[in-house]
Amino acid sequence: MKKQTIIVTGASSGIGKEVARHFLALGDNVVINSATAGKLELVYRELGAGDNLAMVAGDVSQKSTGERLLAVALEKFGSADVLVNNAGIYETKPFLEVDEAYLDRFLKTNLKGTFFTTQAILPQMLKQQQGVVINIGTPLVHHALGGAPSSAPIASKGAIHALTLQLAAEFGKYNIRVNTVAPGIIRTPMHGEEADQSAGLHLLNRVGEVADVAEMVYTIAKSNFISGAIIGVDGGMGAGHHLN
Ligand SMILES: NC(=O)c1ccc[n+]([C@@H]2O[C@H](COP(=O)([O-])OP(=O)(O)OC[C@H]3O[C@@H](n4cnc5c(N)ncnc54)[C@H](OP(=O)(O)O)[C@@H]3O)[C@@H](O)[C@H]2O)c1
Repeated sequence: MKKQTIIVTGASSGIGKEVARHFLALGDNVVINSATAGKLELVYRELGAGDNLAMVAGDVSQKSTGERLLAVALEKFGSADVLVNNAGIYETKPFLEVDEAYLDRFLKTNLKGTFFTTQAILPQMLKQQQGVVINIGTPLVHHALGGAPSSAPIASKGAIHALTLQLAAEFGKYNIRVNTVAPGIIRTPMHGEEADQSAGLHLLNRVGEVADVAEMVYTIAKSNFISGAIIGVDGGMGAGHHLN
């Protein structure tokens, strides 16, 4: 299989770190990003600090971070083939307590991060006449939970789902595919030690693991004909729920 260059945002932890590890293990070049330079450097070393790995610390909501990611990808590896917009934050707060600054935090990292990083990388994909953008969404966008008041993060993720379809439509004719992976509850630092408490939200009655998501991201990256899709890796969470 042709060696590709993968850019993964939010790769200092959880899903992003495993996505980076998966592509590296299967022979691709990877550029990792996260906002906290110290954390990113530790992961850079944990992933082997090899010739096929590069890192760029920075806040994805700043377009300049995407531009630096592209510059490093081109300088070290000569292409930017796959962008995984994984960096994201999630917290709960009752809707009536959400003020503008709180809402803006989620719109900034989740929506603007995905929006502007894609805007920075996509011109290179157009030059290459090929590219894949994989966003990370959530089944909660169309399967809401009363007990988890998350209007701010969910509104930002809903926008990512919509953006996915729009970009797939605008750029499909240039051989650029845009998809969203929507994971169920995945065991990552985002949930601390509490992930398993959410097992019952899934038809499979267990939470997911980071490898489950990484495998799907890899499959989408290497396929030729998946575009404009929202793909659940959610143990059936988006499909239905148990009565007890
Ligand atoms: N875990 C789940 O159950 C679940 C379910 C559905 C969707 N998701 C989505 O999957 C993605 C990854 O989640 P996770 O569970 O792996 O989370 P995580 O372990 O908390 O990791 C989040 C990553 O995002 C980075 N990040 C946060 N804000 C950033 C910013 N402004 N700029 C650059 N990087 C930033 C963090 O980097 P630093 O800490 O180094 O800044 C970290 O590397 C998120 O988009 C999340 O919404 C997760």
